[in-house]
Amino acid sequence: MENNTNKRKLTTASGRPYAEHENTQSVGSRGPLLLQDFILHEKMAHFNRERIPERVVHAKGTGAYGTFTVTHDITKYTKAKIFGKIGNTCKTFLRFSTVGGEKGSADSERDPRGFALKFYTEDGNWDLVGNNTPIFFIKDPKKFSDFIHTQKRDPRTNLKSPTMVWDFWSLNPESLHQVVILMSDRGTPYSYRHMDGFGSHTYSFINSENERVWVKFHFKTQQGIKNFTGPEADAMRTQDMDHSQRDLVEAIDRGDFPKWNVKIQVMTEAESKTFRWNPFDLTKIWPHAEFPLIDVGVLELNQIPKNYFAHVEQAAFAPSNTIDGVGYSPDKMLQGRILSYADAHRYRLGVNYEQIPVNSCPFLVANYHRDGQMRIDDNGNDDPNYYPNSFGDVIPDESYKEPAWELDSNVADWYDRNAGPGDNDHYTQPGDLYRKVLSPEDKVNLVNNIVGSMSGITGPRKEQIINLQLCHFFRADIQLGMAIAKGLGVDIDQAMVSKH
Ligand code: HEM
Repeated sequence: MENNTNKRKLTTASGRPYAEHENTQSVGSRGPLLLQDFILHEKMAHFNRERIPERVVHAKGTGAYGTFTVTHDITKYTKAKIFGKIGNTCKTFLRFSTVGGEKGSADSERDPRGFALKFYTEDGNWDLVGNNTPIFFIKDPKKFSDFIHTQKRDPRTNLKSPTMVWDFWSLNPESLHQVVILMSDRGTPYSYRHMDGFGSHTYSFINSENERVWVKFHFKTQQGIKNFTGPEADAMRTQDMDHSQRDLVEAIDRGDFPKWNVKIQVMTEAESKTFRWNPFDLTKIWPHAEFPLIDVGVLELNQIPKNYFAHVEQAAFAPSNTIDGVGYSPDKMLQGRILSYADAHRYRLGVNYEQIPVNSCPFLVANYHRDGQMRIDDNGNDDPNYYPNSFGDVIPDESYKEPAWELDSNVADWYDRNAGPGDNDHYTQPGDLYRKVLSPEDKVNLVNNIVGSMSGITGPRKEQIINLQLCHFFRADIQLGMAIAKGLGVDIDQAMVSKH
């Protein structure tokens, strides 16, 4: 007989050991079931509730714990304790994702990749919720839900729709820069290990003198950039839907820990006033020649969590989570995201989502939040639950105050007609990207990918959408526009006549 003395006893959720896990109590061996077999009910009811809402975007993803190590001194820019000394380290959790697909979608889809990083620092958890691209499709958060609808499924056919996608992009030329990146082979990374990450937004650093600079974060892969071509990505979709997930788990499990060099770009407040574009516009980069990359540290991923749901599915990142010495900026998209994420988490995971271990701060947390569903800590014990009070010791600390921001605008809705210099230049940077950064092979693949995707546009507005989008490509670069028009079989002269 098997020796079971070292094994754990099977119990109900309330801890009562029980003997029969497979057969339900019944009236005789062939009779109906007994209502009193509550273990059957508990099993079925728990199973029925296993799914939580998937993330409204970035639903398909994978994550790993790791370590961030400071290798260079940047204390002149920030007083954040994590950067206080070369050699400082902190634990991190990074979740990679695709954006538009559902939880069961393929990893090799053409899409930006999420790069959401949580630093567990002694000053609180700091979340940098970025992508593998330094920019984004839109620059105002009011457009986000419209944009995302075009990336999801058509309301009638329930199919992905190139018509919706290109209709939106053609009517929002600010998207062009990100569209060129997405349609290049960078839109189909070989794996999460082989791509860079970006904080994307402009944030601020505040130093011990309470001086502010603007900052962008870059994570340069030590594994080297490696992309699929369009056809290779299509093939991988059918060969292995979970290719990136598998690649990450297998690499870490065999001890091949992926690493990224962490760097920043810095812009002073004075420089931000004379920069030819809006430094807080998420559709624009800061040229490296003018704002060189500064070394900061190394990020290593070294542990796949033991349970996917507990850690990866329940992970909640929020751009509002910054730490002392790292602050926001007037980037409109960042401002919108400061509100959106915590709201999403309260819906998806519940109001006490920050107590779930992957999200909880391992250092002191003290405040006056109380109660709520799934409150699982001591709930503040018998400490006062109001402020101010004459008893407790949880008090605001003035030393954490940020310096004031000088603003030079009126309060107003922000329309294009109020835009500042350079704000409506949607073409210079994508043109430079095409001309100066992409290799000849990248250029050919870019055009093929765009032609392939735009060929899917259908319906009565087909010609209008194609012609409008072609205008944007032409304005970025004549050769790019010509190559795409040729690929689509568009007669340019005819298109110009029908447009005017
Ligand atoms: C996920 C909103 C722009 C990167 C999400 C989620 C929401 C959201 C609601 C799901 C959160 C959850 O359920 O856990 C928005 C809004 C945006 C915006 C309103 C614009 C105003 C961006 C931008 C980036 C980005 C510009 C990158 C630079 C991500 C990433 C995730 C995510 C990486 C997945 C986080 C994870 O792995 O859990 N976003 N987003 N988002 N977003 Fe955004």
